Amino acid sequence: MPTGDYKILPSILSADHGQFVQEAAAVDIPEVDYLHLDVMDGHFVPNITFGPQVAASLKKHTRFRLDVHLMIEDVDFYIPRFAAAGADMITIHQEAAAHLQRSISLIRESGAKAGVALNPATSLETLRWVLGEVDLVLVMSVNPGFGGQKFIEASVEKIRVLREIKERGKYRFTIEVDGGIDARTAPLVYQAGASYLVAGNAIFGAENRPEAIRKMIRAIEEDQQRRRSIQV
Ligand code: DX5
Ligand code: ZN
Repeated sequence: MPTGDYKILPSILSADHGQFVQEAAAVDIPEVDYLHLDVMDGHFVPNITFGPQVAASLKKHTRFRLDVHLMIEDVDFYIPRFAAAGADMITIHQEAAAHLQRSISLIRESGAKAGVALNPATSLETLRWVLGEVDLVLVMSVNPGFGGQKFIEASVEKIRVLREIKERGKYRFTIEVDGGIDARTAPLVYQAGASYLVAGNAIFGAENRPEAIRKMIRAIEEDQQRRRSIQV
């Protein structure tokens, strides 16, 4: 079982888009609290997914909290709409928000938790003046747009540096990582400081989804045990 200080968040981007509710039911195990919803507009990223209506249906037909990852340009228009659809957490991209601080406030006013995401090439420094106002920082470990891409190894160091910034500044935000997370990379990003681990292909590309989730949890636990036994 997980130690409780991290979560695996299934991303339904890699699920069958004609059967979201059934696909969500397939990951309905006690270890899962959140579903990760990838919203794409065909402008910020070269792919299109779904809007607030799908989020509202998942809210209605499942017990999950919803982690909505907006890979879209017009964030201020859509934030209240996703909040009304039942999003518990709304994450916007630093690269997409012209007035980031204002958009973060808009999310908080809507009642959802506020997250900011960074593309792999975007510096942590760009968030310096908003870190005290966010509930979550999402480190993208692939370039956003598609599931099943190769994990960018430099993300591990980026997460480590972000954790140092968090500890030094006594910030409260959660560190999330998204892209290429599987049983190999999950222990690396957890050890570096990420506690919300999003996984799409590793879960929905597997025949047995609960087993795929538990495989990542086991990989993290075994890695932690190994590290503890080396230290003793
Ligand atoms: C990528 C999305 C991810 C995606 C991750 O643009 O933000 O959430 O679903 O998929 P995997 O785990 O397959 O890399
Ligand atoms: Zn995502």
